[in-house]
Amino acid sequence: MKPIKVGLLGIGTVGSGTFNVLKRNQEEIMRRAGRRIEIAMVADLNTERAKELTNGECEIVNDANLVVTHPDIDIVVELIGGYGIAKDLVMKAIANGKHVVTANKALLATHGTEIFRAAQDKGVMVAFEAAVAGGVPIIKALREGLTANRIEWIAGIINGTTNFILSEMREKGIDFDVVLKEAQRLGYAEADPTFDIEGIDAAHKATIMSAIAFGVPVQFDKAYVEGITKLQATDIRYAEQLGYRIKLLGIAKRTPNGIELRVHPTLIPAKRLIANVEGAMNAVLVQGDAVGATLYYGKGAGSEPTASAVIADLVDITRLATADPNHRVPHLAFQPDAMTDTPILPMSEVTTSYYLRMLVADQPGVLADITRILADSTISIDAMLQKEPAEGETSTDIIILTHQTQEKYIEAAISKMEGLATVKGKVTKIRLEQLS
Ligand code: HSE
Repeated sequence: MKPIKVGLLGIGTVGSGTFNVLKRNQEEIMRRAGRRIEIAMVADLNTERAKELTNGECEIVNDANLVVTHPDIDIVVELIGGYGIAKDLVMKAIANGKHVVTANKALLATHGTEIFRAAQDKGVMVAFEAAVAGGVPIIKALREGLTANRIEWIAGIINGTTNFILSEMREKGIDFDVVLKEAQRLGYAEADPTFDIEGIDAAHKATIMSAIAFGVPVQFDKAYVEGITKLQATDIRYAEQLGYRIKLLGIAKRTPNGIELRVHPTLIPAKRLIANVEGAMNAVLVQGDAVGATLYYGKGAGSEPTASAVIADLVDITRLATADPNHRVPHLAFQPDAMTDTPILPMSEVTTSYYLRMLVADQPGVLADITRILADSTISIDAMLQKEPAEGETSTDIIILTHQTQEKYIEAAISKMEGLATVKGKVTKIRLEQLS
């Protein structure tokens, strides 16, 4: 059988990894795919570098339009990133009847509905294993391996940069800004780390997983997104004393009223396996009604780990390219006409537990006032920590862990607490999930 021909758009870290792994494991991959997979064309603005990286084995062009319209190309691999040019090229590739492989979570989380519809109409595949958790085959697991299940919830550490920062903050007891600078120096964090530290990258990935898990459209605009920039080393320390770790989690949860889709720093019991995922590693915990909890762990970024996911998609497409489009695995796991419009809940309707820290005057009745406010809001206390004031101080921290309640109730209780003369400044609130 003649080789399937691939055109790469961009040959940076992931593109060169894809070229190298495909070459190194070509024979093994061919035994699996049933056909040779050949990178025939590469589009990159730096044509000289692209030539060097590919040892002159592919046609190199500096205009990606030449790849997405080329009659010999069967699959276009989009590794440019962003929503602008990448979107135009993906749409053009689809319009030209090419299958597409992309690692671009931002693009799919925001424009996925339009892209998948165009692909459906044209009868081509859009594969995106590399878009979520890099080399961890979580898309395959959710879409195929767990297909018997009603997925109940997903909770993932799906951004390596922030997990690295949180691990360092905990181990070294240092504050966010200091660790971020160190992470940038070591190359773990981008020069502009906004997407990572503000939780946007994790929210893109959580959005994609929510669609596959629940059969709803991708709706990044409805996701609640909170990063780690305001997190203090003090809270990591107190959480530890109470038996918890703080992780930036991407959560997608089915509830009777709708779907919770949220990214925020979260306390999780230190004894859970996922709480012990450290450094730049990723992990996704999935709760299915039949299988129970399953955990997927591995490298969420990097040249060859991400290439591993890109090539898995290339093999899938190679195997299915000749199949009737109606008999392929649907892009988002559910048949396009079986998607539902189950609402994504606003954050005020989300139910979770909370960690609260407040600085209070050390005088009689303070604790009683605070617990009264919680009792009046029917919020139950799970645990409490109060230290004696430091030498010469008249104020001290109180830390309270609550049982589950809705965000709107805790918010109302917090404003009442902040109104007490004995509570100084703002109450720090971090959400808490038992993940049991
Ligand atoms: N920047 C991401 C991370 C990897 O830090 O995990 C690509 O999504």
